[in-house]
Amino acid sequence: MPLIAPSILSADFGRLAAEVEAVERAGADWIHVDVMDGHFVPNLSIGPAVLAAVNAATELPLDVHLMIEEPWRYVEAFANAGADYITVHQEVCPDLESVFEAIENTGAKPGVAINPGTPVSTVVPLLSRAALVLVMSVNPGFGAQEFMPVSVGKLDALRNAREDSGSGCVLEVDGGIKAANAAEVVEAGADVLVAGSAVFKSPDYAATIAALRSAA
Ligand code: DX5
Ligand code: ZN
Repeated sequence: MPLIAPSILSADFGRLAAEVEAVERAGADWIHVDVMDGHFVPNLSIGPAVLAAVNAATELPLDVHLMIEEPWRYVEAFANAGADYITVHQEVCPDLESVFEAIENTGAKPGVAINPGTPVSTVVPLLSRAALVLVMSVNPGFGAQEFMPVSVGKLDALRNAREDSGSGCVLEVDGGIKAANAAEVVEAGADVLVAGSAVFKSPDYAATIAALRSAA
C-alpha cells in the first residue's frame, strides 16, 4: 500500500497548524511541503519559517519539495526548520551529487525531482545515492492541475532501473493525484502519493486519504 503525503499547498493557510493536525489525525503518512521561488516556477509559496511552524504541529515526516533555483543555498535552513526529506529539481542542479552531499550533511534525506518533460535517464545514475525520486505528473507551480499520463511510463522505467541498481530509494508521484488514478500510478511503481487539492478540498480528509490508499 502506498504512503499518502498531503500537500499543504491546498490547505487553508490561515489555519495551517490545524490543517496539518487534521490530516495527521486523518491518517496521512507524510506532510508534503511545496516551496516555490517565482523563478524556477511562476508561483511563490512558503519558506523555512512556515516549515518550522508545520514541524511544531506534527510528528509526521516532513517531505520538502524545493521548486527553486540554486536550492543548495537553502538546504541548511530547511533542514534546521525540520525537513526530513529535501528534494531538489534535476533541471536546476548541474552537480546533483554535491547537492545530495550537502543535504546528507544536515541529517536530512536527499531526493531528486523531474518535470514531465525531463527524461528518467537524467536521474538513473544517481539512484544509488537518492533516498527519494519524485516524478512530477503536472508542470510544477500550482495545485489542482490535470494529471499527465506521461508520468506512468516514467515510474515504471524508474522502478526497473531501481531494481537494476539495487537502490532502496522510494518513488513518489506529485500532481493531479486522486482516487481515480491512484491505482495506475501505484501499479507503475509509485510508493508515495502526493495529493494536495484531492485531500484539502475534500469534505472528509480521512475518507479521502483512505480512498487514495485503497484505490491502489
Ligand atoms: C505542484 C506541486 C504539487 C501540488 C499537488 O507544483 O508540487 O505538490 O501542490 O497538488 P494537486 O494534488 O492539487 O495537484
Ligand atoms: Zn510537490
